[in-house]
Amino acid sequence: MKKQILFAGLILAFGMGAAQAADVAAGKTKSGMCAACHGLDGNSPAPMFPKLAGQHASYLEKQLQDFKSQKRNDPTMTGMAAALSDEDIADLSAYYASQKKTLEVADVEKITLGEKLYRGGNPETGLAACLSCHSPTGSGNEPAGFPSLSGQHVTYLEKSLNDFKSEARTNDASEMMRNTAGKMTLKEIKAVSSYISGLH
Ligand code: HEC
Ligand code: HEC
Repeated sequence: MKKQILFAGLILAFGMGAAQAADVAAGKTKSGMCAACHGLDGNSPAPMFPKLAGQHASYLEKQLQDFKSQKRNDPTMTGMAAALSDEDIADLSAYYASQKKTLEVADVEKITLGEKLYRGGNPETGLAACLSCHSPTGSGNEPAGFPSLSGQHVTYLEKSLNDFKSEARTNDASEMMRNTAGKMTLKEIKAVSSYISGLH
């Protein structure tokens, strides 16, 4: 019995050793060309560029692969991702995931509606509560593929929700976000985005 357990442990150790481990230091070196828009540590200074710091590595990898295969379209990112190998993508994602995301400050006038939507959805329109997937603190759920949202720039959050609503962005598994944003009014999108930017 003990021998069997030891053997299983050895197989697991070999299996993990064989897989190419993502390299944070290499990712930092490779991130030079991303810094102009996303900031040195992934906290982008301009609000139309998403923060990458503290985001789950697997979500970042999925987005970069989706830009590369043009499942997700953006004139800038399609070009950036086209030049990246799978190893570059894994290293860059590990680097940004290891950085700490800064927070924004929510607009006081939008907090009440934003909080209501984030925590309870909108029963009248069948809008699901965001926290059921993105967690009560906005940190998401990595194994499930739900990204961290807290502290993200309002401008980018609003753009993402509008893109899912208009179906300009269609790389969400099982149309989870298209079904969600499709039920939201512009006012609701603005309120919940403001709330999330200050959530932690
Ligand atoms: C010229 C500006 C620019 C540069 C340089 C740039 N990006 Fe981006 N990046 C953007 C914009 C704009 C978006 C948002 C696209 C959208 O709205 O869908 C974005 C989105 C992303 C996303 C998706 C984030 C999310 O929350 O879904 C990732 C990941 C990303 N970039 C990684 C990188 C990496 C890695 C590099 C360097 C190899 C890089 N970017 C270089 C402008 C840039
Ligand atoms: C059923 C689960 C689910 C619910 C409920 C949900 N989301 Fe999402 N959300 C996702 C998934 C999955 C993704 C990632 C899609 C992808 O892989 O590109 C996502 C992505 C997002 C993004 C894009 C993040 C980025 O960095 O580009 C935003 C913004 C977002 N959700 C906001 C919300 C808001 C606001 C609500 C509530 C009104 C909500 N979500 C409810 C599953 C969900």
